[in-house]
Amino acid sequence: MARIFIIGVTGGIGHRLAPLLLANGHQVTGLHRKPEQADNVRNAGITPVLGDLMELTAETLAPLIWGHDIVVFSSGAAGSGLDRTTRIDCDGPGHVVAAMKQEGISRLYLVSAFPEAGRGKDPNPRFEHYMTEKKRADADVAASDADWVILRPGTLLHEDQDGRVNAGFAIPYGTVKRGNVAQFLAKLIETPEIRREILELTDGGTEISEAVNLIVRK
Ligand SMILES: NC(=O)c1ccc[n+]([C@@H]2O[C@H](COP(=O)([O-])OP(=O)(O)OC[C@H]3O[C@@H](n4cnc5c(N)ncnc54)[C@H](OP(=O)(O)O)[C@@H]3O)[C@@H](O)[C@H]2O)c1
Repeated sequence: MARIFIIGVTGGIGHRLAPLLLANGHQVTGLHRKPEQADNVRNAGITPVLGDLMELTAETLAPLIWGHDIVVFSSGAAGSGLDRTTRIDCDGPGHVVAAMKQEGISRLYLVSAFPEAGRGKDPNPRFEHYMTEKKRADADVAASDADWVILRPGTLLHEDQDGRVNAGFAIPYGTVKRGNVAQFLAKLIETPEIRREILELTDGGTEISEAVNLIVRK
C-alpha cells in the first residue's frame, strides 16, 4: 500500500485514476481548488486537500504532500490564459519537485504533452506557449534527482478506457482516451522499476499491462 497524492484529482485523467489506485489498495489524497469540490472528492474515498496552484509554492506545498510516498501531477490550465498556463503547467511541477525533495518523497508521475501535438495545424501562439511551458516543466522534473516518470499522452479524448494502447519511448502521434491514460498510470505506479523515463502514449492495440511490461528495461 502506498500513500498517493494526486494533483488534478478532479480532472479528466485524475478522477479516473483515483478509483483505480484505491482498488489497488492504496490511500489517495487529492488536491482540489474549490471548497465545494471537497464532498465529491471525499465521497469517492479520497482525502481532499484544498489548494490552488496559482498560489501554492514549494514551501506551502510541502506540508500538504508530507507523509505521502508518490505524487501524481495531472493538473493543467486547460487554455485559461498564458499566465495561468505558465504558473500551473510549468511552475506547478517545479514547485512539486522542490516540495518533494524537502519532504523526502521520491516518486513522481507527471502528465505532460505529446511533442507532435501541434504538427499540421495552423500556428497558434497560445498552443505554442502551452507546448513550451510543458517542455520547461519536463526539463525541471528531468533535472531533479526524483524517481520521476514523465508521461506524454497524445491528444486526449473524453472516453473511458478500452484497455488498449501504444506506448514507448518514441511512437507515432495519435489520440488517447483519458481512461486509458488513467489505467496506464495506475499500472505504471504498480511497476516502480520504471523510473526516470519519458514515455509516449496513444490508443493502440496492446493490452495495458503488456504495454507497461514491454517498457521495463531488461
Ligand atoms: N487536452 C489534451 O489533448 C492534452 C493532451 C496531452 C496532455 N494533456 C495534459 O494532461 C493533463 C491532464 O489533462 P485532463 O484532461 O485530465 O485535464 P483537466 O480535465 O482539464 O483537469 C485539470 C485538473 O487541474 C486542476 N486545476 C486547474 N487549475 C488548477 C489550479 N489553479 N490549482 C489546482 N488545480 C487546478 C483542475 O481542477 P478543476 O476541476 O477545479 O478545474 C483539474 O483537476 C494536463 O496537464 C494537460 O495539459 C492534455
